[in-house]
Amino acid sequence: MPVHLQIVEDEVDVARAASQHVCAQVRERSDAVLGLATGSTPEATYAELVQLYRERALSFARVRSVNLDEYCGLDGAHEQSYRHYMQTHLFDRVDIRPWNTLIPDGLAADREAECRAYEERICALGGVDLWLLGIGSNGHIAFNEPGSSRDSRTRCVQLTAETIADNSRLFAASTEVPRRAFTVGVGTILEARRVLLLATGAHKARAVAAALQGDPGTHCPASFLREHAHCTFVIDRPAASMLES
Ligand code: GLP
Repeated sequence: MPVHLQIVEDEVDVARAASQHVCAQVRERSDAVLGLATGSTPEATYAELVQLYRERALSFARVRSVNLDEYCGLDGAHEQSYRHYMQTHLFDRVDIRPWNTLIPDGLAADREAECRAYEERICALGGVDLWLLGIGSNGHIAFNEPGSSRDSRTRCVQLTAETIADNSRLFAASTEVPRRAFTVGVGTILEARRVLLLATGAHKARAVAAALQGDPGTHCPASFLREHAHCTFVIDRPAASMLES
């Protein structure tokens, strides 16, 4: 089945639409396993979900969550760690149980063991119901940089210069951006029952067009999502501007 494409006006509408997808999933199954993403793109979606929780329209009390990735070498308390991001934007603001949130441990001494354990825990949860994704300007998903294979699993990867440059805006200096990160694999993501990719802004237009209309392959890891039976892209008009009709 082709990717379902939902083009909306702007980033506010992307957040509204995305939060409705998440809400529908949790209403369908209160103990849903949500795959979660970090980055600027899903911030507004998390704000919408917090609002729905405050209005008592949604509860995370039984929800289990799994995150896509984490920087190697950062403690969960570090302001730029993805654990800190998730606590700040969602976990500390809703009723999700701390023990139901899973994020790779950036400080794990045995990185290979951490990756194996992560896959095993996803398996023990029964797999992911809905995985929320962003997209990197080079077409990466999670930290699966160009060159990542379709069957890749959770591992520790080297970040590309482009990703380090993109993400350096959040650090005091680009030299502070960790060079390595834990990431679930493309294969791990493709096993989710549903996938929801969000993209906003003209700086994502090239990656979105490559993912949806370019030759599929390892040069654009997001293009592998076209194989998924239940994948939706929710994007705004600027992010859709390079799509051919
Ligand atoms: C990081 C994350 C990705 C995210 C991407 C885009 O590299 N590892 O999961 O999709 O950035 O981030 P943003 O939404 O800030 O553009």
